[in-house]
Amino acid sequence: MRRFWADVTEPILRQRDVRRVVEIGSQSGESTRRLLELCGELGAHADIIDPLPPENQDALGSLMARHGTLHLARSLDVLGQLPVADAYLIDGDHNWHTVHHELLAIDARVRETESRPPVILMHDVGWPYARRDLYYDPATVPAEARQPFLRAGVHPDRPDADPSGGMNRHLTHAKLEGGPRNGVLTAVEDFLALRPEAYRWWSLPVFHGYGCLVATSELEAPYAQTIARLCTENAPLLSLAAKVERGRVEALIAVEAGRYQQRAERASLEAGFARRELELKAQIKKLEARIQEIEGSRGYQALEQARAVRRRLRRLRPGG
Ligand SMILES: C[S@@+](CC[C@H](N)C(=O)[O-])C[C@H]1O[C@@H](n2cnc3c(N)ncnc32)[C@H](O)[C@@H]1O
Repeated sequence: MRRFWADVTEPILRQRDVRRVVEIGSQSGESTRRLLELCGELGAHADIIDPLPPENQDALGSLMARHGTLHLARSLDVLGQLPVADAYLIDGDHNWHTVHHELLAIDARVRETESRPPVILMHDVGWPYARRDLYYDPATVPAEARQPFLRAGVHPDRPDADPSGGMNRHLTHAKLEGGPRNGVLTAVEDFLALRPEAYRWWSLPVFHGYGCLVATSELEAPYAQTIARLCTENAPLLSLAAKVERGRVEALIAVEAGRYQQRAERASLEAGFARRELELKAQIKKLEARIQEIEGSRGYQALEQARAVRRRLRRLRPGG
């Protein structure tokens, strides 16, 4: 999400003249920092929701105290209790259940309070999570709403998750890509199907996909026009961007494979060193036992006695 800040997110938030923003998913805290700085400038407030503290929490300290509130919680546990915001930045748990219910919760709050509809900006609406669930913690998603899952990587041309390769191998993914109730874009489409007259959807095919939901009642607003232009004008450039994104994804997978390979080689080298160290320790122990055995033998003790006698003799001899 942070890569979109300067070119897309910030200009939209400024044009929407936000007073309240909700950010779901902070992680590095980089987007959060920029959002809080913008809130400081605009006299706005940000609610940041993430079950884990941002990695730069200490650096955020006074910015957060002045312009934001950090909710160490899951989005679906707090969204319904917060005041309606002017903008939502959704980049949390990238699965159908969470995203679909985040959108429903936001829409319900807007209707309940008869507020001006917010702009909803979302990350990861393209590959790999458009049509495949990711679960940061599968236990937090109801079992009946989860896809069968496993910890494995994903490839753009393979529907099945791959434990020995692909992207984001360290994360828990739906075993299969596609099908109903699977992935972030599917969650958006299912939300739009419930509220077809209420929202319009635009997206950008770069950096895993960026999506914008705008209320139809807002289509004349300058920020909505900016979004529509950005995501539809210059079709050839957008098509090229999608191809560049595909190349970037392939490069990311190759880099990740290289990193795993290096890690495996280092582990095998370290295992070799550890084995050699154990062998040497065993040899030393054996030799020490042998020395003790020799020192305990009669022959060795007789030799030691003979040496002692020789030393005494040397001392008794004149000039010795
Ligand atoms: C992709 S990262 C966010 C990246 C961040 N927006 C940025 O631009 O650097 C996803 C974050 O969502 C958080 N997360 C996972 N499940 C969540 C949930 N149910 N509600 C809110 N945040 C969640 C994770 O802890 C993680 O920090």
